[in-house]
Amino acid sequence: MKTGKVDVLLGLQWGDEGKGKVVDVLTPQYDVVARFQGGPNAGHTLEFNGQKFVLRSIPSGIFQGGKTNIIGNGVVLAPDLFMAEAKDLEKSGHDLKKCLHISKRAHLIMPTHRVLDAAYEALKGDKKVGTTGKGIGPTYTDKISRSGLRVGDIFDGFEEKYAQHKERHLNILRSMNYTDFDISEAEKNWMEGIEYMRQFNIVDSEFELNSLLNEGKAILCEGAQGTMLDVDFGSYPYVTSSNTITAGACAGLGIGPNKIGDVYGIMKAYCTRVGAGPFPTELFDETGKKLRDLGHEYGAVTGRERRCGWIDLVALRYSIMINGVTQLIMMKSDVLDTFETIKACVAYEKDGQRIDHFPFDIEHGITPVYEELKGWKTDMTKFTSEEQFPEAFKNYIDFLEKQLQTPIKIISIGPDRSQTIVRKK
Ligand code: GDP
Ligand code: IMO
Ligand code: MG
Repeated sequence: MKTGKVDVLLGLQWGDEGKGKVVDVLTPQYDVVARFQGGPNAGHTLEFNGQKFVLRSIPSGIFQGGKTNIIGNGVVLAPDLFMAEAKDLEKSGHDLKKCLHISKRAHLIMPTHRVLDAAYEALKGDKKVGTTGKGIGPTYTDKISRSGLRVGDIFDGFEEKYAQHKERHLNILRSMNYTDFDISEAEKNWMEGIEYMRQFNIVDSEFELNSLLNEGKAILCEGAQGTMLDVDFGSYPYVTSSNTITAGACAGLGIGPNKIGDVYGIMKAYCTRVGAGPFPTELFDETGKKLRDLGHEYGAVTGRERRCGWIDLVALRYSIMINGVTQLIMMKSDVLDTFETIKACVAYEKDGQRIDHFPFDIEHGITPVYEELKGWKTDMTKFTSEEQFPEAFKNYIDFLEKQLQTPIKIISIGPDRSQTIVRKK
């Protein structure tokens, strides 16, 4: 058990790296698991004992028993989707009313935020972001422009506040000529969600977390999305609307930067992206299709096809720098088990010049420079220790560690909780 520390676990690519699985695996070492940003745009998959769960707003620490799970102030919460998610878990025997705490300062995603999300996407035409349609951007926009509605608002004059916010949204939609929608059903469900939410512990999570920390408890922060989707450092404007990086954990939970311990950076052994935007190592050929088929690369929430490509070490070095990553976790290594050769992008070529750093613009004129490595051609999915790794896979790990100047501590070789190898060194 790690005591008195706040460790952060986050994605280094474009999301869906496997954060849910690893949070679940690491939870026994912690007392508290806290989400710090994002909302139901996330889909975190966990598999154990033949069961599979996909979590969206609820932290992935709920299945290991006796842990406190916190939805922090930096999260945006849709009460209707939260209710559906929590009720599903209740049905499968996981009642969260005691162990799940929600920050009063988390912002609420209103039904009209989802309509605004669709309206802004429609307005962008072929420049659309390809959002998850969950109202994430408009909710964070309201937060930053000081017009948001928060969880703590449900205790005082809520109906009136809600009506005012809704009217403001409807005015914006009218000004955009976007009027062909009906939210009456969604609104009913949403209000039910608000009532349902009242049964949970709605807290000042910043005080709670800091008290727990002072008592010597260990806290794990669970990131959503990935660094390449960060609103400041990602592939802007094709990003989400929050800070997905380590600094986001401080702001999204009220924890001082000096309290941060380890930063676990998660990456796939290759790379995927869902939605629009640049992706330098994307493959449009049979290899890309093979990665998608073998990796079951379809969105956990939307079912959308994920775009697939080789690992991009230029982008990863950038992500490691921005986050202060102390340990790497490599996921889905097993997906490459049958490949003859594996490529890794070690640099970009732009305007005839080789560049090793991640540039301002990755949308235009970037050609990846690849190094080719020998595949291991071994089924690793039943391995239980690193001693069993074939030489070619060990070479791949050594190569990545040298390129990224960061140790790879955990290797995932399948979706199940048990298919995880923690390295000794
Ligand atoms: P998250 O959003 O980062 O939690 O990741 P997702 O759940 O959206 O996507 C990861 C997908 O890969 C899920 O379907 C997982 O069950 C699956 N997965 C996780 N780790 C592994 C692994 O090591 N191998 C394979 N084959 N699948 C994995
Ligand atoms: P997890 O936590 C992958 C992408 C969307 C879109 C962009 C903006 O499961 O890794 P948004 O709805 O946030 O305004 O969409 O970000 N996106 C994700 N891609 N995994 C996610 O979450 C994502 N959350 C958002 O596809 O391109
Ligand atoms: Mg996901």
